[in-house]
Amino acid sequence: MEALALARKEEQNQQLKERILQLKKERNAIILAHYYQRDEIQEVADFRGDSFLLAQKAASTDADVIVFCGVHFMGESAKILAPNKTVIIPDERAGCPMADMVNVDGLRALKKKHPNAKVVAYINTSAEVKAETDICCTSANAIKVIESVDSDEIIWVPDKNLGDYVSKFTDKKMIIWEGYCNTHDMLTVRDVEEMKAKYPEAEFVVHPECRPEVVKLGDFVGSTTAIIKYCKESPAKEFIVGTEDGTGYQLRKDSPDKTFHFATKYLVCPNMKVNNLKKVAKCLETMSPQIYVPPHIADQARLSLERMLQVK
Ligand code: 13P
Ligand code: SF4
Repeated sequence: MEALALARKEEQNQQLKERILQLKKERNAIILAHYYQRDEIQEVADFRGDSFLLAQKAASTDADVIVFCGVHFMGESAKILAPNKTVIIPDERAGCPMADMVNVDGLRALKKKHPNAKVVAYINTSAEVKAETDICCTSANAIKVIESVDSDEIIWVPDKNLGDYVSKFTDKKMIIWEGYCNTHDMLTVRDVEEMKAKYPEAEFVVHPECRPEVVKLGDFVGSTTAIIKYCKESPAKEFIVGTEDGTGYQLRKDSPDKTFHFATKYLVCPNMKVNNLKKVAKCLETMSPQIYVPPHIADQARLSLERMLQVK
């Protein structure tokens, strides 16, 4: 973008941020933003985090309104955990293709085939699917959650890559669904090898939603928060990052003296980027779109989410 256009954009963003802050006060709202959101949204957020930290925050906030900047299942989880709050999202079309890869009928059929198995659902699932499960998890606590379950047989939905990764840390039998994240699954061994050749001093940090052969190359494997923490604490000065590009905002904020190279330019989740500042301001103005989860679904799904929050 040329300098003048850039300056105009910056000025527009500044005005939108001021409007958002004012509306936030009027509504007694809190803005929660996932680490994969655009930088300008993370800048205006009260709290940034991965899916686990944001679920925890939604469950404990005393604000009246939660503005959830992430994808749809995250807003739903917030509403399920805080049923008396109004949860609004900037754009209803921000979905998660991986969450859409598992549905209730398919999961019920699998449960029938494995009647003794307990179902562990990645938080990247719809409320209807969560209502069919025993416990939720995120990439930050998946191994602990699996170990906490009272069964040696686990049905795991929907991420086959994360499922493969966690299966290496448990003796339990894992029946793994065939879903995947379109963004993380895009990263190939070749991409990583090319980057390693270009930046031989850099450590490779990778999210377990990537393919198993890519995860194997990691100097560190972990959830978004774990990656951010690792990079901050590591003595290394240069990193090749194998997760979504929005993470760069927190990485650079925490470690301004370090260099971060994203492993490909394709590590951008288009769904997360559907949200922008204009939509954040609009949803606070109109108080819509609001998340609604039918109470009979929410009550069942809440059990699964709350069990996850209790795992230590
Ligand atoms: P975490 O937030 O658990 O790191 O998950 C990554 C992700 O893909 C969220 O949609
Ligand atoms: Fe879904 Fe992947 Fe985007 Fe996360 S990064 S919202 S898992 S598509």
